[in-house]
Amino acid sequence: MAVSGTAIGLVHLRRAGCSILLDFRNTGMPAFVHWGGDLGDCGDDELAAIADALVPPVPPSSFDVPIRLTLVPQRSDGHSGRPGLSGHRGGQDWSPSFTPVRVDQPAVGVLEVEARDDAAALTLTTQLDLTPPGLLRARHTVRNDGADGYQVAGLAVTLPVPAQASELLDFTGRWARERHPQRQAFRFGTWSREGRRGRTGHDATIGLMVGTDGFDFGSGEVWAAHVAWSGDHVTYAERSPSGFAVLGGGELLEAGEVLLAAGEEYATPWLCAAYSAVGIDGISDAFHGWLRARPQHPGPDRPRPVVLNTWEAVYFDHDLDRLRALAGVAASIGVERFVLDDGWFRHRRDDSAGLGDWYVDESIWPQGLHPLVDHVRGLGMQFGLWVEPEMVNLDSDLYQAHPDWLLSAGGRVPVAWRKQQVLDLVNPDAYAYVLERLDALLTEYDIGYLKWDQNRDYVDAGHAGRPAVRDQTLAVYRLMDELRARHPDVEIEDCSSGGARVDLEILQRTDRIWASDSNDAFERQTIQRWTGVFLPPELIGAHIGPTKSHQTGRNLEVSFRAATALFGHAGMEWDITSTTDDERAALRAWIEFYKANRGLLHTGRVVRGDHPDPSAWVHGVVAADGVEAIFAYVQLATSAAYVPGPVRLPGLLPDRSYRVQPVDVAGPPSGMGYATRQPPWLAAGGVTMSGRALATTGLEMPCLNPEQALLLLARAAD
Ligand code: DGJ
Repeated sequence: MAVSGTAIGLVHLRRAGCSILLDFRNTGMPAFVHWGGDLGDCGDDELAAIADALVPPVPPSSFDVPIRLTLVPQRSDGHSGRPGLSGHRGGQDWSPSFTPVRVDQPAVGVLEVEARDDAAALTLTTQLDLTPPGLLRARHTVRNDGADGYQVAGLAVTLPVPAQASELLDFTGRWARERHPQRQAFRFGTWSREGRRGRTGHDATIGLMVGTDGFDFGSGEVWAAHVAWSGDHVTYAERSPSGFAVLGGGELLEAGEVLLAAGEEYATPWLCAAYSAVGIDGISDAFHGWLRARPQHPGPDRPRPVVLNTWEAVYFDHDLDRLRALAGVAASIGVERFVLDDGWFRHRRDDSAGLGDWYVDESIWPQGLHPLVDHVRGLGMQFGLWVEPEMVNLDSDLYQAHPDWLLSAGGRVPVAWRKQQVLDLVNPDAYAYVLERLDALLTEYDIGYLKWDQNRDYVDAGHAGRPAVRDQTLAVYRLMDELRARHPDVEIEDCSSGGARVDLEILQRTDRIWASDSNDAFERQTIQRWTGVFLPPELIGAHIGPTKSHQTGRNLEVSFRAATALFGHAGMEWDITSTTDDERAALRAWIEFYKANRGLLHTGRVVRGDHPDPSAWVHGVVAADGVEAIFAYVQLATSAAYVPGPVRLPGLLPDRSYRVQPVDVAGPPSGMGYATRQPPWLAAGGVTMSGRALATTGLEMPCLNPEQALLLLARAAD
């Protein structure tokens, strides 16, 4: 068997400070020797020495040969952890043993390994793609070469992590509180995050990280993995006394869900992973870098328009005059995209009816949506429309006509959620109906944007008696792909009761995610901070909500809400017809600032400071060329100390000198004498310091009240 690209049976992939080393010199699957820090430009001898040096000893009371972690760990090679592939053929072929038959490096950073087990009649193909920014994409495909059906129970991608990875960080959440971090020691055993909600889930861990002791945003070695899949999935970290530790993940399959007939294949979702030697911000560099390099990414050629979404402004109270007035105020302050949310289609007077009836409600809109669309377009804004294509209310014309178009099992109607059920898009007729309806709407109206919502977990998600989460997930992808092909200029927002479907596969066909239904800026600070580790700001919808949050009842000043929404794809979700003159002026100024700076905010490097006071955060975006940056110093709660202590501003060019100034975007923050007792540099209107000093000694900050943010602009001064 030839290993193309190497004469010695060792494959070394190298990108952006990360190396991967695989050792094919043994029989069977290659040992996965290293995923982590850059090994440098090694010659063959050096690579062989490294691989040899990492062959473990044979411990007492164990197998008689060293057990090495392979590309697809299996029981047959002595692996005692979770296997890569599990499955069977009528109770046989349950412990495969693969041998590589083809190893190719078709492009720089890319490796393809085809392996066979002739006895089990299975072929396994692995693709590794270490992309230029250092994001590793990895997946396996298994093919049934036998005559009888082969049942796939699970197929996971695993990546080795070293013993130095001693801490584990992942995320959990719920509606309106997504992606909150949880941290613990990475001990022996398996820490497995399993999502069985049919959608990615509010509580899904967007990524699982392990790192060296105390790793933080700007320090420590970190290894991170994300499963790019919108259905049931698992992400895990496993450490064994046998001497291995891995990050792994894949799809969670229901018993009987994937049965491969002769010649059929099953491909795992991509496991997207990154290594950083410089803390969590380095993980963002890899994820953001890869996302931004995609051809469909909304880059500088498609600046992210300021959004006004009608949901928290009017809810289901759709009234043409009221909406026209809202659009008028929106346009007058600089809004660029007006999105009509839930409530426009037949029978949808509240959330109990109408899902599935994708016809404009004639009782509310006798002339269709034309008068509103024309008004919005006439004001120079783009028109966006909310849809929830995957769902149906039992109280709908659609359900009355097609009661069998539900994902269900055992002849039961699954337990309701928000009074709705999941439409069976695996059923070609249901799929065709939804496609036709969406296509018709996009054809009739000048719609530039769909807010595509999905508002429930799945239960008993079966099609024709068989488990169907996977097929439904693929049908949703197909539906989006087909609509995009028919209407290439229409952008799609991925929403799922807020942020319950945030993953890199849905993002392959959508232009942003709605991070959360919470527009409470205090809550959003956490949600956006951690969502933003994986997604760049331009993909994260962030809106200014009403003064009194509809989700939490918390009252927040417009300046804080504006400073929070600035660091995403910005918009508003507020009845701005009822705003005061001051509030409107603040919104106008904020929109102007956003428009002037979105080029920087949506292409720059995202950084977070590791400030020791947990009640005060600092984060920012540094322009790709390093010459300017926008930072936010955020006082979340009261600090234990009178003065917060100097705050370091990371990420600037160490040898450049910067003028750092406060920017008053939507009003100044309030604080204990903010106006009169500021640190001298702030009272003087700014300071000029090197990037090195700003990152090393930092700047004293004013004493702010809680729930306040100070925005700082840094511009190279030399
Ligand atoms: C849930 C979404 O997350 C909200 O933003 C809003 O669109 C509602 N659905 C509408 O029903």
